[in-house]
Amino acid sequence: DKTQQDAEKRVAALEAVKLIKNGDVVGLGTGTTATFAIEEIGKQVAKGLKITAAASSKRTEDLAKSYGIQMLDLQTLGSIDISIDGADEFTESLNLIKGGGGALFREKIIASLSKNRIIVTDASKKVAQLGAFKVPIEVIPLALQYVMDQVAKLNGTSTLRLLNQKPFITDNGNFIIDADFGLIAQAEHLAEALNQIDGLLAHGLFIGLTNKVIMAGGNGVVVFE
Ligand code: A5P
Repeated sequence: DKTQQDAEKRVAALEAVKLIKNGDVVGLGTGTTATFAIEEIGKQVAKGLKITAAASSKRTEDLAKSYGIQMLDLQTLGSIDISIDGADEFTESLNLIKGGGGALFREKIIASLSKNRIIVTDASKKVAQLGAFKVPIEVIPLALQYVMDQVAKLNGTSTLRLLNQKPFITDNGNFIIDADFGLIAQAEHLAEALNQIDGLLAHGLFIGLTNKVIMAGGNGVVVFE
């Protein structure tokens, strides 16, 4: 249930925060699991840990600032020492689906800049094959129909994400489509094909962008790396 899941998320997040060292530039993820990590980092900073951080969303930026974490501008940041983020699905080969919270573009930039990319999850996120969770895709609004047509050519069914009956708008002012490809046999190939579509800013397939998944479950913490 949800209480159990939240407890697991917290355990995984705390385990990840132990990997942060004094002086690190830390990439902060988005979502409920990342929030547990940000809270803990805030506590450590209050106790004297010296770090700077970059946020993967406005939400995370506001939260981190409220804990007194010193924030850096992603625009001019050359590299990140360690990033901690959640995921919507992951496999043992460390491929992910992300973007349930709509922050996938900045999350991908953070992961790309980061030397040590840590994912924190509860046990419900582990899958044998990606794809039960629909793949979030950030689309430049004027290319919406074009991108949905291209996704259809890849056998994907697109649903425009809504919030209060209106299109959900990302931090970057774009739309999200949630694309159902069924179970994805070759995630690398699909990711490559999606990368070719003009007007598609980012998709939620994170391939080769993870060094370690810290998963907390009923039997304690399991690390995949
Ligand atoms: C945000 O865009 C997502 O990539 C999140 O990392 C993902 O949705 C996980 O969120 P929870 O930690 O809330 O499950």
